[in-house]
Amino acid sequence: MSEPLRTAIIACGSRAIQMAKIVSLLPEFKLVAMSDPHPDQRAEAYKALPEPKYYESTEEMLEKETLDAVIVETPPKQHTKYTLMALDLGLHVMGEIPAVDTYEEAVQLWNAVNSHPDQVYMCGATANYRQKVRMLSYLKAHNMVGKMVYAESEYAHGMERPFKPRQKVVEDWRASYDACRYCTHSLGPLLNFMEEDDVFDTVACMGTGRHFPCNWKDHAMVSILNTRKNAVVRFLASFGLYKSGPYHTTRIFTDDGMFELYNEKLRIFKPEFSEFCEKPEIMEIPFGRFPMRFERDFPVEKVLSAGGGGHGGADFYMLEEFADAIFNKKPSPCSIKKGLVMTLPGIFAAESAKEGGTLKKIIYPWEA
Ligand SMILES: NC(=O)c1ccc[n+]([C@@H]2O[C@H](COP(=O)([O-])OP(=O)(O)OC[C@H]3O[C@@H](n4cnc5c(N)ncnc54)[C@H](O)[C@@H]3O)[C@@H](O)[C@H]2O)c1
Repeated sequence: MSEPLRTAIIACGSRAIQMAKIVSLLPEFKLVAMSDPHPDQRAEAYKALPEPKYYESTEEMLEKETLDAVIVETPPKQHTKYTLMALDLGLHVMGEIPAVDTYEEAVQLWNAVNSHPDQVYMCGATANYRQKVRMLSYLKAHNMVGKMVYAESEYAHGMERPFKPRQKVVEDWRASYDACRYCTHSLGPLLNFMEEDDVFDTVACMGTGRHFPCNWKDHAMVSILNTRKNAVVRFLASFGLYKSGPYHTTRIFTDDGMFELYNEKLRIFKPEFSEFCEKPEIMEIPFGRFPMRFERDFPVEKVLSAGGGGHGGADFYMLEEFADAIFNKKPSPCSIKKGLVMTLPGIFAAESAKEGGTLKKIIYPWEA
């Protein structure tokens, strides 16, 4: 490794601070600046990380700082704007999910990333870096997962009863956001069970609307999708159902077994694994919330305080691969194409929901 990557983080919200703490632990990065228009958010970030320089204006930060890379952590509506700006300045970009907010932005970003082939754009698909999903990628590489037939996936945040708005200094972007667009955590891992040339093909979606006072447009939104190779997926997205704690679950039924992702656990039903299983036929791997791999010399207590272990280690693995691609001139570990395959279904789902559930064909910029 030569010099660390001079890195700026765009925004100082909760996700930005979490990423900044992890970036600060990795020797591949030097966190030099962060920006946020909101003074209280900048103050919050400064409390956790006094070292970087803070800017009110992202544009000014990008103009004044000498940078190698940026990490975009704004609400989804600004992801594309700042990614395009950074690419134009010759920087590498770790973009947040969802990769874009509209189909038009998808076309712009697709063209921009392809016209900057020497810069890495990586879609920050955290869920694909969780240990349970990394295990699936490993099994896939050894031809052990089969091809998806049907999958069900739920992404539901916990909500208190009665509803109490989160104490945030800026309005939560989720309040005006169609939950069905927040689909990459659920659809991203499914790419492991689809052939390279398969994509989500059509989608229909319905929202519940509001049944009791809360901040969100819909309590829940349900999408039904199919892939070009005829697998079917049901996807529930919710920021507003009464339930305790996060509920991130996926069940994938393939032509070779059943794979269940339950929060941090992976369960596998494959008859050939049965002799290793305590319960008949189901092998369960409880990964826990904390990274298991410590080949690197991280101080454990710092890792634990860095945003709950950085999504069970996922943020570490993701940032490591981003740096590795830049230093070793490798292709993006999560390319713009992959990012759009997992993001665009949510955008078309939102259009479907507006029309009460019409079936929508999902289009991709490379096919238009
Ligand atoms: N990958 C994951 O697991 C994960 C988890 C949570 C959130 N996210 C993503 O992270 C993003 C931020 O989510 P959050 O929960 O931190 O939201 P948040 O509301 O806590 O923070 C967003 C911040 O962006 C700031 N901002 C707005 N416009 C800006 C601009 N022009 N320049 C700089 N900053 C600006 C806001 O002031 C706010 O502080 C969202 O896109 C969300 O999808 C991803």
